[in-house]
Order: sequence, then structure tokens, then C-alpha cells
Amino acid sequence: MTRLKLDKITQYIAAQRPGYSLAQAFYKDVDVYQAEIEHIFLKHWLYAGHASQIPLAGDYFTFDFDTESVIIARTASGDVKAHMNVCRHRGSKICLEPSGSQKSLTCPYHAWNYNLDGQLISARNMPDDFDRSQNGLHKVNVALLHGLIFVCLSKEPPSLSALQNELDEVFELFGFNNMKLAEKKSYRIPANWKLAVENYQECYHCAPSHPEFAQIHAMAKPPKVFQMAKSDFAQANQGQPKFKQLNRYFDLAEVGQEGYQYDRNPLLRNALSGSAGGKPVAPLLGSIQEYDGGASELMIGPLSYFLIYDDHMLGYRFLPNSVDECICDVSWYVNESAVQGKDYQLEQLTWLWDVTTQADKKIIMNNQKGVDSRYYQPGRLSEMEHFQQSFLTWYLKTLAE
Ligand code: FES
Ligand code: FE
Repeated sequence: MTRLKLDKITQYIAAQRPGYSLAQAFYKDVDVYQAEIEHIFLKHWLYAGHASQIPLAGDYFTFDFDTESVIIARTASGDVKAHMNVCRHRGSKICLEPSGSQKSLTCPYHAWNYNLDGQLISARNMPDDFDRSQNGLHKVNVALLHGLIFVCLSKEPPSLSALQNELDEVFELFGFNNMKLAEKKSYRIPANWKLAVENYQECYHCAPSHPEFAQIHAMAKPPKVFQMAKSDFAQANQGQPKFKQLNRYFDLAEVGQEGYQYDRNPLLRNALSGSAGGKPVAPLLGSIQEYDGGASELMIGPLSYFLIYDDHMLGYRFLPNSVDECICDVSWYVNESAVQGKDYQLEQLTWLWDVTTQADKKIIMNNQKGVDSRYYQPGRLSEMEHFQQSFLTWYLKTLAE
């Protein structure tokens, strides 16, 4: 990035007032967007999927954002490996389908053939001095957190050790390793990715925009009411591993470590799960013995979010396509032994977060339309937007670096 562009972004950052939403340029300037891709998306661990999506050797899926595409595959030896979906010959995309099963990966252009470990196996009619061993696919860092697959495109990815130490018990308890993907929906949102992330991080909008969610989640209540419900709930369940409270997020993460946060919050009106009327929707997860009327919020890295009810788990992520478009992917996970149609119905399982995400898509689009106006100016944030505020502080600091 040129000096001129960097100076411009530095000026935007300096002009930003704490406690206010971001200036228009942060949502529209392509140079800001490029800086975000470099300093956020290419530097952090991103949630790509779950091992249950690729149970057999040869199974693969792709993980795409901005101009990048990563192939995540189960190799012949049973490992999960990740490589850039870019041919080493003249650069064609190799896997064109979002998922599938292949013994090896053949480029659709001139048929160079790679194994699932990324090694180039064959390339026709190449000069004698061509070295196949130097032309394997670009490797991508991959980490498995109890079945959850994360990738990081950085040469020096942040460490996941603190997170693994502190969250191991939680992953075990909810049986993350023994979950399966029941459903995945992608919502294309014509808005800057930050408007989607900021919206996810505050529940100021929950009461007016999400009647279905607000009926069963205490989080949608005003801060005082919520805090009271939360402390009663925590007191009633003291000492249980589900009730850990970890906040190593944003500025609270140790240098060199990926940030994370975990917290359990109460549901309302005897609700047991995230569903219509709070009714159970699937068999209990992991070694959970009974419903406690709560839901856990888990965040790993700055961009991956999980919501854990006692009988299902949701993975949430926002990935940019361009400065003015992002994709919100929602994945629903259940106990791997659960049988669709018998132990759970997809319709019931996905209802709450499908209606909620569709409503979010609308408000985020409207937000972008207003932000595009000549009359938009950063507005004061409420008390219920404190988490969004910490994200913005971290974001501005990260960009400034
Ligand atoms: Fe892949 Fe030519 S671009 S084989
Ligand atoms: Fe929302």
C-alpha cells in the first residue's frame, strides 16, 4: 500500500471519536477494505467448518472470502489439510464445486494433478528441468479444535494454546468432537462486512427487530434487567464448567495469542433451547445431562462466533466478498448420533436463527443505505453497544498498526 493511502487511513483513524459509530470512509473506501483484508482476514484464525463435513479420505470443501479460496480436504492418511485453491501452473482455480470427494485434485485448465497433501503428481509435457517437488499447492495453516476446523493464511499465525487450555473443558462437555453439521445457510448481504459484525455484537436492536429471539433470550432485555437475570442464573449454577466466564478478547488477549471469549447467559420463561417457544429441538449435546435454561456465547478470534444451546450449536461467521458485500454463513450442529426426521426436524432446528438472520440481513442492508448518504455522520453508541464498542476500539488499533 502506498504512503499516500496509508496516510489517508491514518487520518481517518485519528478523526474517529470513541463512543461513536465509524465514519463513512470505513464502510466505503476500497483502500480501507484492502488494509482490513491484509491486517485482519489474512492474519487471524478463521472458522472454516467441521471435521464431520469431510469424514472420508478424499472429501473436501472450499472456504472462500474476498479473492481467496482454500481447499480443505481429508487426506489418504486421514489428516485434515488446507491448501490454496490456485493452480501452480497458470493459476486457475482448481476445485470449482464448494464440496465433493476426489482421489486427487485435477486442474480443469491443463490437467496438472495434485494429491490431497498438495503435492504435484503429474504435469504433462513439461521441460526436463521442471521440478515437480517445487510446484506443490500453497499450504495453509489448519487447526482442529475438537472437530472445528480453523484456517489461517498468515505465515505467523497467532497461537491457539491459551484458548485450548482454557476452553478444553467446554469443548469436551458439549462434545464438539462428536457433533455433525445438520444444516448450513448462506445469506448474501449487500453491505460492508463490519456492519454485519457490529450488528451481531450488540443486542440494542434485538427487542425492536427480533421478536422471536427477544421472547426467549434475556440478553434482549435492558442492561439492568439482563444483569440481574444473569447473576441469579450464575448463582444457581455455580461451579459448573458451563458457567466459566472467559474474556481474552480484543485488547484482552495476550500478545501473540488468538483472542477468545466464553460466557453463559440465561434464557427466559423456562425456555430450554433456541427454538419456537424455547422447546427442545434435538438430543442433548456431548455429556450434558439436562437442560439448564441457558445458552453459551463463544467467540474464537475476531470473526468467528458460536452459540451453544444444550441440544444444538450454531456457528456464525461473516466473510467479505468486496467492500460493499458480505456473506453471513450460519451452520447448525447437532449430536452426531441424532437422526434427522426422528430425533430432530430441520425446520424446527433452524427456524429461530433463520428468521433472526433474515431480519438481520434487512436491518444491515438498511444501515448500509443510510451510511451511503451524504448526511450520514457517526452517531453516539448506547450502553447496550459496549461490545461493539470494544470491537471498534480493537479494529481501529489493529488497522493503525
Ligand atoms: Fe492449472 Fe494450467 S492452470 S494446469
Ligand atoms: Fe440481530
